[in-house]
Amino acid sequence: MAVSIKSAREIELMRESCKLLEDVFFRLEQFVRPGISTKEIDKLGEKLIREHGCEPNFLNYNGYPASICVSVNDEVVHGIPHASHILQEGDIVSLDAGLIYKGYHSDMARTFGVGTISEDARSLIMDTRQSFFEGIKKARAGNHLYDISNAIDAYITPRGYGIVRALVGHGIGTRLHEDPQIPNFAQRKKGLLLRPGMTLAIEPMINIGRADVETLEDDWTVVTEDGSLSAHYENTILITDGEPEILTMSGKCE
Ligand code: MF3
Ligand code: CO
Repeated sequence: MAVSIKSAREIELMRESCKLLEDVFFRLEQFVRPGISTKEIDKLGEKLIREHGCEPNFLNYNGYPASICVSVNDEVVHGIPHASHILQEGDIVSLDAGLIYKGYHSDMARTFGVGTISEDARSLIMDTRQSFFEGIKKARAGNHLYDISNAIDAYITPRGYGIVRALVGHGIGTRLHEDPQIPNFAQRKKGLLLRPGMTLAIEPMINIGRADVETLEDDWTVVTEDGSLSAHYENTILITDGEPEILTMSGKCE
């Protein structure tokens, strides 16, 4: 499928979709603390999305049973919220969510510390975040898609982490997942030419230990094979004539 180029009007709708999602995240971040359940995060997230007049795009996506993916510690992504899963001091929790505004999808993820976390966990979160910024330095018209992938890898691999390969970033727009796929690890090819009007979800998933992941019996929750901690950082971005615009980061959520 060809990679879609958004019109000026579509870009406005993407901007609004992403701004509303960032607001949801801003409020979810305040809510994360020891003693709350992952289900409470999901319920609040869904409520906030609907209060904005939007739809949660993850709910029922390929049968996913919640609005927010809540992935704790060695859970990489797609953690299913449960009332019995209570966040503990020292956990790290990745929240991944998206919404649909007037037909346009947004998608973002952040990993938060629950109370005080270890130095290693803090570094993992910060390095995962920074790898995104290294990637989007290359997200410019005239560059190629895998310049982004290579930049993320070049930042992460020397730090000894494992880059998850089984899951990748993606184009986004009138569908949650559009072409192209965007790996977070180095590629031998150049990938497609980046053009203004492309909207992309760039989302490094990084493990403290090895890169290998597996899926739990619930058919959704992706965990690290070695049980090591994993972090996730995602924004929806726009390729422009100059600097990329980070649509899910207009100031409320770092
Ligand atoms: N947030 C995931 C992504 O970035 C999609 C999750 S789909 C769900 O691609 F079904 F798990 F919700
Ligand atoms: Co995504």
